Amino acid sequence: MTRIERLRVEHYATALGIGTPSPRLSWTVGDAPDNWSQGAYEIEVSKSGQPHEAYSTKSNDSVLVPWPSVPLRSRETAQVRVRVQGTSEDWTPWVEITIETGLLRPEDWAAVPISNPPSSTDVTKPPFRLRKVFTVPEASHSRVRLYVTAYGLYEAYLNGQKIGEDIFAPGWTSYYARLPYQTYDLTNLVRPGENVFGAWIGEGWYAGNLGYHGGKRNIYGERIGLLAQLEIDGEIVAKTGEEGWEWSFGAILSSEIYHGEMYNATLPDTDFEQGDWHPAELLPAPSVPLVSSQSPPVRVVDTIKPKQIITTPSGKTIVDFGQNFGGLIRFLSDPSCADGEIVIRHAEVLEHDELGSRPIRYAKATETITLGTRSLVGYMPRFTFHGFRYAEITGWKGLELSDIEGVVLQSSMTRAGDFRCSHPLISRLHENCVWSTMANTISIPSDCPQRDERLGWTGDICVYAPTMSYLFDTSGFLSEWLVDLAHDQQRLDGIVPIFSPDTGTDVSTPEAIWGDAAVLTPYDLYTAHADVGVLETQYASVVSWLKDGVRRGRTGLWSKDQDQLGDWLAPKAPPETPNMGPTDNHLVADAWLIHSTKSASKIARAIGRGAEADAYQAEAQRLTDAFYAEYVTASGRLVSETQTALCLLLAYDIFPSQKYLNGSSKPNPAQYIRQLFAERLVNLVRKANWLVDTGFAGTPIVLQTLAQTGNIAHAYRMLQARECPSWLSCVLLGATTIWERWDSMLSDGTINPGEMTSFNHYALGSVASFMHNHIGGLTPLEPGWKRVSVKPQPGGTVTWAKTSHQSPYGKVSVSWEIAQEEIVVQIEVPPNTTAEVVLPGWEAGRSETVGSGKHSFRSKYVLPDFPPKVYTPHFAPIRPNEWVL
Ligand code: BGC
Repeated sequence: MTRIERLRVEHYATALGIGTPSPRLSWTVGDAPDNWSQGAYEIEVSKSGQPHEAYSTKSNDSVLVPWPSVPLRSRETAQVRVRVQGTSEDWTPWVEITIETGLLRPEDWAAVPISNPPSSTDVTKPPFRLRKVFTVPEASHSRVRLYVTAYGLYEAYLNGQKIGEDIFAPGWTSYYARLPYQTYDLTNLVRPGENVFGAWIGEGWYAGNLGYHGGKRNIYGERIGLLAQLEIDGEIVAKTGEEGWEWSFGAILSSEIYHGEMYNATLPDTDFEQGDWHPAELLPAPSVPLVSSQSPPVRVVDTIKPKQIITTPSGKTIVDFGQNFGGLIRFLSDPSCADGEIVIRHAEVLEHDELGSRPIRYAKATETITLGTRSLVGYMPRFTFHGFRYAEITGWKGLELSDIEGVVLQSSMTRAGDFRCSHPLISRLHENCVWSTMANTISIPSDCPQRDERLGWTGDICVYAPTMSYLFDTSGFLSEWLVDLAHDQQRLDGIVPIFSPDTGTDVSTPEAIWGDAAVLTPYDLYTAHADVGVLETQYASVVSWLKDGVRRGRTGLWSKDQDQLGDWLAPKAPPETPNMGPTDNHLVADAWLIHSTKSASKIARAIGRGAEADAYQAEAQRLTDAFYAEYVTASGRLVSETQTALCLLLAYDIFPSQKYLNGSSKPNPAQYIRQLFAERLVNLVRKANWLVDTGFAGTPIVLQTLAQTGNIAHAYRMLQARECPSWLSCVLLGATTIWERWDSMLSDGTINPGEMTSFNHYALGSVASFMHNHIGGLTPLEPGWKRVSVKPQPGGTVTWAKTSHQSPYGKVSVSWEIAQEEIVVQIEVPPNTTAEVVLPGWEAGRSETVGSGKHSFRSKYVLPDFPPKVYTPHFAPIRPNEWVL
């Protein structure tokens, strides 16, 4: 029977403590008849002590539909139920969800932050514990809530039991602008009579050592502390700032994000009784708003069993987890130890059979654990994490594989997409993208999880956001991060910082691609989730980047005085100067500026600002003409003609106006140029022996551009290339994540000498988008996947592929297999959506629109010869002044 499957509130399945008074609702529909589309929906809202409300709407909207009732107040609960009707049949059964708001107004907070006495600002602050004993009346209570946050990080306990599963709460935001808080339901945890609330406080991102070149401490403040308010049925029963709170040091001597944890098991831990307890001190109240975080909390999302224990040539014991990941080691047994101390050093790779820790630079990534009489089973550090595959463990006698496990940490986004194909190395490459995404979504979208950075580099997510949104439900995670980006940008007068949250550099240089995240990432999110709200929220940031952030010259293109990071990490760039690749940096910057200006036009249009949309469109065309005057010769030659340069023009449709081309003798000059550029791209790719010549700017689009210009065979050949630089060369050298450099590991087993060498950076994994939308064949045609293109394009030696994506409307999937001169394609289209299907083997121009349900197609098809026939370059002479004025 047709039914509602996933009812969500502002993208989430549970809605406790939400921060918006008018939450939007979304649902998917399951078990529907084929070709089902929604004709109407009904929402009923019940709030305590108020008349029942019923709303009926004739609409096929099922994603982020507006809140029908009056705005909710702080702490208010609403019982919401939804049902829907197709265009003809009966209503589905009701599905219900409880919504409860958090503390929406500043005056709801009566708590004041508390801390221990100030410590030296030059060294790490030891984590400390806070406790408060409070009494719960015998009378029954229906609702106990904890609203809590910290200057720093906290881990809260009630009666010795950890509250919730969140790790690194409250998470990292631009603390200059806002401080997130969490809401926990303690109804079943409190007991009548005496209760002990306890919390560990660590310095985290707030006051810990952050940033490269030694970084800084106390970036957001010098004192760390806790802000907590515990309420029973709306009445405050305990709050920080009141009498009775005490602090004490305990077993965690230090716990720093980059450097790891020092732990002394002879001292008390979650025992909030033992220790020297002293009255807590008051800290100033937050000067920024407290906001309910919409980003999914960091949690343990997986565990990994170690694969082998290695004794190195120098006699060290190294555990290999078989997978590079972001997280920690957890003890499953009590260590037996000769001198009472275990030291664990983490690294991503081995170099010549020893731990390869040079790439983590200044970060120590070391745990030092002093044993006591207390059992350490379950021990895992609190306020640190590492990016690693290998752990060198010293001091643990007779260590066995079953003694420890790897704990994978990530902001707990729901997994949305998958891809697999007959080519095991391509499938492994895809898996590597997933692992790099996981390791780099620990509270913020980061560059890497291991060295002394782990920062929200804006360029990295700018090029990776479409891939990330295919793999995971990024709706809350990235929209929350974009709010911080906009705040940071405001502080920097329109300049988008090169990483956000900004760590107080206060001077940031405007950089194309990195700054373009302000425009392109909101649009990518809108494409993935149909959330117009994100565009509305970010619009000021979009406008401000293009108006005040971009440093322009006379023509409106980037000023040549502004240095650029360009096609960062293009393989031909020298190891120490990754911005000196073969493509002119300003050409790259200007192409992205045009791309951003066009996207700003689409954003303005989507939020109903038609005149501004037209203005951005006209501006994009003016900039394009200026671009051609600057970088394209009269005879159509391109300055620094590289894979990246040609892909940028072709993928972002950067072609001059008719006015500019008026002198051309060609009937369709833009089409003519496009064709020439496409041919020249193939020629360059062939000359490069199908090896990659792109960095951050060109990598997300190189295979897509080849495919879209009719050269899919060349795209496959590039994807299947095995020499360096290519994606599979890394896989063949044992990569289990995406590397920062094409040659992070050299073929002789030596780590790239560049001081910036990580083995877990997602940007070059943006190739996964090609796997989803060209090999698998799934692309959204309308925001939120309301209309989908299904167009698998087999090639290379791939004989089958399958991909799926959990879209806001439900699961959409394609799988295909070629056997015996026939291709069989299975498609699943979710209710309330349609797919435009174009299949291999169909005559040119044929396409079919299908509605929801499962569809199966067969057609005659043989894989074309592979590798593609060597292309004969088309050097057709271009007559001078043929297409310019
Ligand atoms: C980071 C990159 C980043 C770049 C830009 C690096 O150190 O790890 O991913 O985008 O710097 O300068």
